[in-house]
Amino acid sequence: MDSPLLLILLSAAIAIAIAIAAATDSCPAYPSVPPTDCTVSTDDANPVAVRREVYGDGRIFDISHRYTVDMPFWKSKDGLGQFLWLPASMKNGSRSNNSMMKFVSVHSGTHVEAPSHMIDRYFDAGFDVDALDLAVLNGPALLVDVPRDSNITAQVMESLKIPKGVRRVLFRTFNTDRRLMYKTEFDSSFVGFTTDGARWLVKNTDIKLVGIDYLSVACYDHSFPAHLEFFEGREVILVEGLKLDDVPVGIYNVHCLPLRLLGSEGSPIRCILIK
Ligand SMILES: *[C@@H]1O[C@H](CO)[C@@H](O)[C@H](O)[C@H]1NC(C)=O
Ligand SMILES: *[C@@H]1O[C@H](CO)[C@@H](O)[C@H](O)[C@H]1NC(C)=O
Ligand SMILES: *[C@@H]1O[C@H](CO)[C@@H](O)[C@H](O)[C@H]1NC(C)=O
Repeated sequence: MDSPLLLILLSAAIAIAIAIAAATDSCPAYPSVPPTDCTVSTDDANPVAVRREVYGDGRIFDISHRYTVDMPFWKSKDGLGQFLWLPASMKNGSRSNNSMMKFVSVHSGTHVEAPSHMIDRYFDAGFDVDALDLAVLNGPALLVDVPRDSNITAQVMESLKIPKGVRRVLFRTFNTDRRLMYKTEFDSSFVGFTTDGARWLVKNTDIKLVGIDYLSVACYDHSFPAHLEFFEGREVILVEGLKLDDVPVGIYNVHCLPLRLLGSEGSPIRCILIK
């Protein structure tokens, strides 16, 4: 995953204020696990942000992972590392807080990939994340559980019996059970598509959005060839590093929105499911 260095300067006064405001001992701003038992007392004078995974009385699921310094990163032992700085802060005399953001790779956390990721002529032709079809990234989606004892092979794909006409599928795998996205050290034994599984999907289904619950849709040993099966036709969009825990299997409306990073083959993405 050799990606160009991304530098985003972000005026995120509100975001950092919320993050820092919540940074008490019982409720760290950058926890390594979701703060499910993180209860914070609030009073009107000193309100404290409450973090949620589900909104709207259980109707809206946030399926993006929170970016944290210790979240896993491709092939890294040490995780993503620092990505936010506060060069101007009110504590140090500025009129506002202004954060700076810099990711070691656009393929960080929950992210989307464009065909230019692994096909050079598509890079030259401009098939970047800004050119991805929002009509594919938004619409009815099926969340399925895949068998836990296998990577996603052609045989597994066939056994899932995903009906024709289904255009968006989020594959929940053994990765979710193993809580791999909450472990700092990269684990190459994650579950993903094998080359024949990817080819089977492209040939035999109408699926154009493929989502998965670890950093790559392709299993480690098939990383390049399985990705190429998806990218070649330029129709399939890959969303990786999704947070699919505690969401019931079923049909939802998915909404995934990449940043408009001109010339980039990947982007952090916010994805939600609406029941
Ligand atoms: C500004 O940043 C500081 C950290 O220097 C933080 O303690 C404070 O809550 C922030 N304030 C606002 C209004 O964003
Ligand atoms: C404020 O400035 C001091 C001294 O330059 C620095 O050590 C500290 O990290 C700064 N704090 C913030 C929140 O920017
Ligand atoms: C999936 O494939 C990887 C290698 O890419 C392997 O390490 C892992 O054990 C496989 N998982 C299962 C459940 O077969």
